[in-house]
Amino acid sequence: MMKLWEGTIPLLAEEGWRDSLIEDGAPGWSARRYCSADLLLRLRPIGLALRATPSALSLRSAHPPLLCEEGHKFHDVAATFINGTKIAEDIKREVASELENLKHRGIQPGLAVVLVGDDAASSAYVNMKAKTCEQLGFYSRKLMMPSSLSTDQLLCEVRKLNQDDAIDGILVQLPLPKHVNKHAILESVDPQKDVDGFHSANVGSLVLGHETLVACTPLGVMEVLRRSGVKIEGANAIVLGRSDDVGKPQAILLMHANATVTICHSKTRNLPDVVRQADIVVAAIGKTAMVTRDWVKPGAVVIDVGTNKVSDRAEVQRLFGDDPTRWKDFEKRGYIWVGDVDERGVKEVASMMTPVPGGVGPMTIATLMKNTLKAARTRRAV
Ligand code: GUN
Repeated sequence: MMKLWEGTIPLLAEEGWRDSLIEDGAPGWSARRYCSADLLLRLRPIGLALRATPSALSLRSAHPPLLCEEGHKFHDVAATFINGTKIAEDIKREVASELENLKHRGIQPGLAVVLVGDDAASSAYVNMKAKTCEQLGFYSRKLMMPSSLSTDQLLCEVRKLNQDDAIDGILVQLPLPKHVNKHAILESVDPQKDVDGFHSANVGSLVLGHETLVACTPLGVMEVLRRSGVKIEGANAIVLGRSDDVGKPQAILLMHANATVTICHSKTRNLPDVVRQADIVVAAIGKTAMVTRDWVKPGAVVIDVGTNKVSDRAEVQRLFGDDPTRWKDFEKRGYIWVGDVDERGVKEVASMMTPVPGGVGPMTIATLMKNTLKAARTRRAV
């Protein structure tokens, strides 16, 4: 595991190392980041984290000690996996505690989730959202509509929820059947109850930097970064993917947090070279294990938003070798969820990364709960 030290780095090194250190723009010896082809030294807000690749290990033994202070040693570490499940639990606990306080004042915020059709995955998501709602202390309402429902009929249901005083948040589960006008439906949700943050009024407010309801997944990514101590300000952030629900709002949120943001997509030229500039990579492009080790700058933080179903044995073998956990999952279900990042390779170069599953996924429901509470507080002025 990553080992952290307090304070600045007293560094004893060969000339070449010093030059790299200075080139990296760090004043004196207290480098924030020091990187060569072989070795990365990183200062975190709470201290210094070291990461050495195998070639640096032999270099280290040729020049011991590279760090001179007693007790400062190199540790060969893989990326820290960010535990999204744990962060999501923390957030849900915070929301539950706030709900408890509101309950004492006779207030119970409510969320309505609307499912049209009987898609198994959507149905499972909706059930999970409703169940989490109840566990935390929200009032929860689940509307199950037949797939034959017309746009007008669904509009009518949404309008009823807009008028319903027990409902603070409305979520219409996507995707909708093809014959339903998705845009019309999303725009029909009262922006104050739009816990998905998909309404154009909320997207506009986000762009302008006004306090508003923001899409759950990118909001979850920001929570993951902040609660993991990642310094966003001044960082080069790459968002891979330009979707309305993730890529675009993600880029705006990172920009508001003072990152320098580049949005990349399938038509970006020299994509690996561009991604390699990033201190923070958010992969939301929907292509299985697309981001490979050679795309990632040593020490970068990699957030994987992808959830791709892999049901091909050869593909599982290629991506995970004999990893018993993956194979157990695969044998049980006949498929596994794989992100947009090649986890096995990238963990060798990244400093932190989110796993799939157990990274961004659980965060989405937690931020939905947070949004519902926020919507209730705004609408009820409590
Ligand atoms: N389907 C998959 N993810 C989402 C989401 O975040 N919101 C809605 N409304 N539908 C989804």
